Amino acid sequence: MKNSFSSKIGLLLAAAGSAIGLGSIWKFPYIVGEDGGGAFIIIYIICSFIFGLPLVMNEFLIGKLSCKSAYGAFRTLSGTGHWQWLSWLTLSTVMILQSFYFVVTGWCFYYMVEAASNTFAGMDANALTAYFDTFSGNISAMTVYAVIAIALTGAVLWFDVNKGIERLSKILMPLLFIMLIVMAIHMVMLDGGGTGLRFLFEPNFSKITPKIILEAMGLSFFTLSIGVGALITYGGYMPKDQNVTTASLQMIVLVILVSLLAGTIVFPAVFAYGFSPTQGPELTFITLPEVFQHMFSPTLTSVSFFALMCVAALTSTISMMEVPVAFICEATAETRYPLSRHQSVIVVGVLHVLTNLLCILSMTGHAPYLTINGHNIFDNANIVSTDFLIPFGAFSTAIFTGWFVPKALYKSSRLASIVYLILLRWIIPVAIFIVFLDSLNVL
Ligand code: ALA
Repeated sequence: MKNSFSSKIGLLLAAAGSAIGLGSIWKFPYIVGEDGGGAFIIIYIICSFIFGLPLVMNEFLIGKLSCKSAYGAFRTLSGTGHWQWLSWLTLSTVMILQSFYFVVTGWCFYYMVEAASNTFAGMDANALTAYFDTFSGNISAMTVYAVIAIALTGAVLWFDVNKGIERLSKILMPLLFIMLIVMAIHMVMLDGGGTGLRFLFEPNFSKITPKIILEAMGLSFFTLSIGVGALITYGGYMPKDQNVTTASLQMIVLVILVSLLAGTIVFPAVFAYGFSPTQGPELTFITLPEVFQHMFSPTLTSVSFFALMCVAALTSTISMMEVPVAFICEATAETRYPLSRHQSVIVVGVLHVLTNLLCILSMTGHAPYLTINGHNIFDNANIVSTDFLIPFGAFSTAIFTGWFVPKALYKSSRLASIVYLILLRWIIPVAIFIVFLDSLNVL
């Protein structure tokens, strides 16, 4: 592949940017809030290292050794076309995931703009709930902001990897870390913030059930961008002398730190002003704007928080949109109608607009026939990709590497190789399988 990162730090920041997104900043705090705080965090960290680390390394290696995108990687490494379905599975997962991810990224942009215009001033929880309900029923507003998110992402991918993704990651990721640290310090210093920190870090193991373990595993896969092809694609762009184990470890540590910082921003503020931490996804879009009203500088705090979410979401959408873009370039190169990178960005951008529109139409109740199984398309896209396709992709990729291309993929040290293969061959597939059976209530 002619596209590649020009430096190790470029790859690390882009991969961390892919992983750190709505998962760490939007999902992590509200799931911790719902599932009992510190004990959940411990399980999440254990899952990130035992399951996440080998799977992250595995995906980087699949890309790095094959020098292909998610389209050609499995075929190249296995030497047969029998594993091509895994490429299509990866593509389907990322396309379905992006169909709701861009919608939520659009919400972040909308809330940032509204916060800057001081719209939330004086609004209480009821007013903010009504405001969120009105906005999430407004097709044109949601479509405009989702399209803005898609266009910004496409604009970055328009350039080659080192000029677009790498350059932007080197600016946005340090900015994101600075914003997170400044906001976290600000929140921890609030009177009463200590209660929020205790809630976040004090483990209550009586809350831990198989369902919570399932949720922690799913969240660690989601936050580490496992199963969506982004790490395979970035692995293909990795500098040849970059060590995969080191890059994976660094990435995972950064993701865990950022998730904890996001919790450190949310909970001290929520507790300091007497709000409940268990608010579901609305925690971010209803509770926090109200909490921010009580702070020293409500507008600045709200704008900073939503700007931070936009930056985090954008670095993730960039990595995920790169998957179909690289996929289409590589797939069409084998036909009589090869598409250039620019053409591919346009095709994928249009597809994203259409799938996001479907989600928006369905969630605003304008297309009741799009409701499946009692859920609208937006909810189904979230459930199907997060609870089913990502774990299934992780399971299949572990089997693929563990059983079909083991030696070629991991030979840096004997011990690491054995641990890695035992995890990929047995422990990870069996664990995911058990979790699946449990979620289907078979166990
Ligand atoms: N890893 C991305 C996130 O956490 C998908 O948002």
